[in-house]
Amino acid sequence: MTIEKVRIGLIGCGHRGIIGFLQSLRHIKRAEHVVALCDPNPTRVEFARQYLGTTDCKCYTHVDEFLKHPGLNTVIVTTPDCTHRDLVVRAFDLGLDVVCEKPMATTIADARDMLQARGDRRFRMAFNFRYHPLMQRTKEILQSGVAGRILHVDSTDVVSWQHGGDYFRRWHARREKSGGLLVHKGTHTFDAINWCLEDRPASVFAKGAKLFYTPDQQQGERCKGCKAKDICRFYVDLNHDVPGQTAEIPDFYRRIYLEAEHHDNYLRDTCVFHRDNDICDTHNVSIRYQGGTLCNYSAIFYAAYEERRIAFQGTDARIEVSKRNHNIRIVDAAGKEDIITIPKATGGHGGADVALMQSLFETGPSRQGASATAEDGYWSLAIAACANESIASGEDIAVPPLDNAFKIGSNRSAQV
Ligand SMILES: NC(=O)c1ccc[n+]([C@@H]2O[C@H](COP(=O)([O-])OP(=O)(O)OC[C@H]3O[C@@H](n4cnc5c(N)ncnc54)[C@H](O)[C@@H]3O)[C@@H](O)[C@H]2O)c1
Repeated sequence: MTIEKVRIGLIGCGHRGIIGFLQSLRHIKRAEHVVALCDPNPTRVEFARQYLGTTDCKCYTHVDEFLKHPGLNTVIVTTPDCTHRDLVVRAFDLGLDVVCEKPMATTIADARDMLQARGDRRFRMAFNFRYHPLMQRTKEILQSGVAGRILHVDSTDVVSWQHGGDYFRRWHARREKSGGLLVHKGTHTFDAINWCLEDRPASVFAKGAKLFYTPDQQQGERCKGCKAKDICRFYVDLNHDVPGQTAEIPDFYRRIYLEAEHHDNYLRDTCVFHRDNDICDTHNVSIRYQGGTLCNYSAIFYAAYEERRIAFQGTDARIEVSKRNHNIRIVDAAGKEDIITIPKATGGHGGADVALMQSLFETGPSRQGASATAEDGYWSLAIAACANESIASGEDIAVPPLDNAFKIGSNRSAQV
């Protein structure tokens, strides 16, 4: 489909829908292709329309009406993770193409339903980390063959307490909504590793625990009105935005969450130590790939600083990627070291969001083949879901394969 014919509807007018997609679409001058917006919360959908700045974009609070908007052909899904399955399947049922935020879904069963519903429609995953300048260069280096065959990957997501704490303030902190942080957050890194290795996971073993955001520290239900306001470092006042979260739009948190909460009781400042939070904040994952590569990944959400590190150990060289240092270190077998500093790009997620939008909605260069499919969504989710299963059972979990039933154009009634 040429860009002139793309008529976009965005569902989920929260942080990612507005800051990630609408802002980046405006940046690449594609906002006029957004013809419909949907969110059950009328304040948020109206805020999104005003932000977009186009008068002929229609707002919906009902999904079925939105999906039937005249001429709509491409749906962007930026709703909470647990809702992706139903919305994507409904979009496919109406013959629409889909761009889905990560994670693809929260369970393997949901992801399979989505693949089966796809039929001959286009289903793309919005893995923006692939488009980060660091990952673009890393992929290029790995493809050059300088590292030889990759035998081991060592990766960690060190998430600061400001950023990490924010996952414990809202729906992410409930497993049924987000699948936990290996699903919600880890899938970014799992996808990047899968993409770099050009391989698929075979089995996963994991340990996880909630060690930091423990309920014995809970002082109130939410920050607003909390008696611990002056002593709690996690206290936020939504009138003044959320520290550690980027929102270049003035009063963003007040306008889209605080002043919208009377519609749906979505509280954006729930206590990070809330007794009902049931996800882990500390994780170790061990992955074996089909090609034999072994990978370990860890993720913590209460660190003193922010870092994402991935080290690829090949037969001929070691390639170490550091988001904090914004560089790639290459050390060959003789110990010769080369450090490549990557220039910082502007825009959300280190320039990755705008590059993702260009890839989705402009016919630009291939960007190292970064465009992600639903199958890519499946494989990254599968690592996270199997890790969750391993944490619960203590077993090494074989990653369920995909079969021909999910090939593009396959009949919806095909056997799973
Ligand atoms: N790629 C990235 O870097 C990145 C960053 C942040 C979030 N995300 C993803 O974006 C999605 C949204 O996250 P967010 O931080 O914007 O959350 P959010 O809570 O700020 O926004 C979600 C929006 O979806 C709406 N919503 C809830 N249920 C719905 C339903 N059934 N139908 C339609 N709308 C519904 C809510 O009212 C809200 O406005 C998630 O899947 C998340 O994992 C991706």
